[in-house]
Amino acid sequence: MENYKNIIEDIYSDVKKVDDIGKVANYIPELAFIKAANFGVHISTINKEGFGVGNFDKKFSIQSISKILSLTLAYKLEGEKLWERVDVEPSGNPFNSLLQLESDLGKPRNPFINSGAIVVCDVLFNHLKNPKVDFLNFCKEISNNATLNYNEKVALSEKAAGFRNIALTNFIKSFGNIKNNVDDVLDFYFHICSLEMSCKELSEIFLYLTDDNFTTKNGNRVLTMSQAKRINAIMLTCGFYDESGEFAFRVGLPGKSGVGGGIVAIHPDKYCITVWSPKLNEKGNSYKGMLFLEKFTTKTASSIF
Ligand code: DON
Repeated sequence: MENYKNIIEDIYSDVKKVDDIGKVANYIPELAFIKAANFGVHISTINKEGFGVGNFDKKFSIQSISKILSLTLAYKLEGEKLWERVDVEPSGNPFNSLLQLESDLGKPRNPFINSGAIVVCDVLFNHLKNPKVDFLNFCKEISNNATLNYNEKVALSEKAAGFRNIALTNFIKSFGNIKNNVDDVLDFYFHICSLEMSCKELSEIFLYLTDDNFTTKNGNRVLTMSQAKRINAIMLTCGFYDESGEFAFRVGLPGKSGVGGGIVAIHPDKYCITVWSPKLNEKGNSYKGMLFLEKFTTKTASSIF
């Protein structure tokens, strides 16, 4: 940890000084209020050590990072049948694109673009009695963190301005790949996206993707080794939408971004690291987050490649 600590502190002060060329997301009105200057980093290792700098303890809207959690629960409950409903191919298109759904007959390219995450929510709807409560309980259990919660204001704000996601869901339903009521599925999706966590909490909740022997406090495995490998593989190829190649090229780790400005990156076998900086590049990924992680894997020589 000593080694990581010094490197993180050095890179943090370097990247803090860099001109932030990104823009805070405002298509979800509530997100526009976030202070652009927030900047936090936290690492958690498989040896249960942790270290953070800056605003690492401040909760923020994790947005699409939550898609890893919904995918995890759906994969656990549905098993391999899940892939009949959603594919595992990079889309090469923006996260909210409608384009490929027509030619792909309503089967989203992967579970991390909005269309795929919405189908995952529909799958969860068939398994869970009280989807919002049960999903939150699942997150609390795997992280051993009872403070996790949705931000109702953010969920409502997204619902009020969610024209694209509403269109996507109706379009997929026209192909028969949404089984439940469109409004119910979207309400669940918007809540999942509104989950709030700090960098510290995020780097802890995803330890199950770093450690083959990870079990929860109650001794339960979250995923099988093969399932965890597969989720890491989808993160590497699809976690940054049409910038997934760039993230693999510059950082070289499985990862996932959210329009709240967070990025989590996983080193399977070593650590989970989270960066939060709200200004996004034109592809919707945190500008400073990517820069930080590029420098981090370079200095620690810990890309998976
Ligand atoms: O559905 C949306 O547009 C948002 N709730 C989530 C999008 C997102 O975080 C994309 N990430 N970079």
